[in-house]
Amino acid sequence: MGVDGARVLVVGATGEIGGQAAGQLAERGTALALAGRNRDRLEERASALGERPWRSFDAYDLDGCAQLAPWAKAALGDLDALVVAIGVAGFGSAAKMPEASAEHLFTVNALAPMAVVRGALAVMPPGGVVSVVTGEIVDRPALAMADYAAAKTALATWLEVAAREVRRDRITVMDVRMPHLDTGFAARAVVGTAPALGPGAAPVEAVREHVVLPVLDALRR
Ligand SMILES: NC(=O)c1ccc[n+]([C@@H]2O[C@H](COP(=O)([O-])OP(=O)(O)OC[C@H]3O[C@@H](n4cnc5c(N)ncnc54)[C@H](OP(=O)(O)O)[C@@H]3O)[C@@H](O)[C@H]2O)c1
Repeated sequence: MGVDGARVLVVGATGEIGGQAAGQLAERGTALALAGRNRDRLEERASALGERPWRSFDAYDLDGCAQLAPWAKAALGDLDALVVAIGVAGFGSAAKMPEASAEHLFTVNALAPMAVVRGALAVMPPGGVVSVVTGEIVDRPALAMADYAAAKTALATWLEVAAREVRRDRITVMDVRMPHLDTGFAARAVVGTAPALGPGAAPVEAVREHVVLPVLDALRR
């Protein structure tokens, strides 16, 4: 299918990466639906991009996560692509991570994206494209990040198997191992404090290279 008018849902559109992805996809002529947690920011972004349909959700409501793609399909008329960029950081040694924080990290970084993608795979037509941001952490798990790294790695493994399972339906599933970016993500950690991280890559270029262009290329195939 072509790119013009492709119907795309961005989940995490209230965040830095998701917001960038939504803006760049809108510039390229896609029909967008936006989902995020913070209602005010979501409504503002949906309005700034030309009154796009939007829906707020929380990662702890996994059934609600699974309903996002069916909602977007109804709102847009169909659903050609899904971008998922939700997540939360957390720092602390494996031995001392509070159980509630471990649950939080796994829910937002693994279970919720999985539920969103599961919902999409049930309603996407052949030729559909799914792009989910995991992170370089999957390839290089760091000290004081065991729970965050394990959650992202669980998501990456799930995506790899899902990608193989739906290939016969001509659906493409991409795992985006995004490098460290200057988005302030680590400073919004739900637990612990980030170690000194070097400078990150520029979000605009990184989102274009790792998310937007690969999604558009896959839609053209
Ligand atoms: N920035 C980096 O350096 C980097 C590198 C590699 C991978 N990543 C991954 O990229 C993704 C986005 O990162 P970012 O830099 O854009 O961070 P961000 O600006 O903090 O965005 C995080 C997104 O996750 C959403 N979120 C957090 N907790 C949620 C919850 N309980 N329910 C629903 N949504 C929730 C936020 O929603 P609200 O804003 O509405 O609360 C926001 O849309 C994350 O998965 C992160 O792990 C980031």
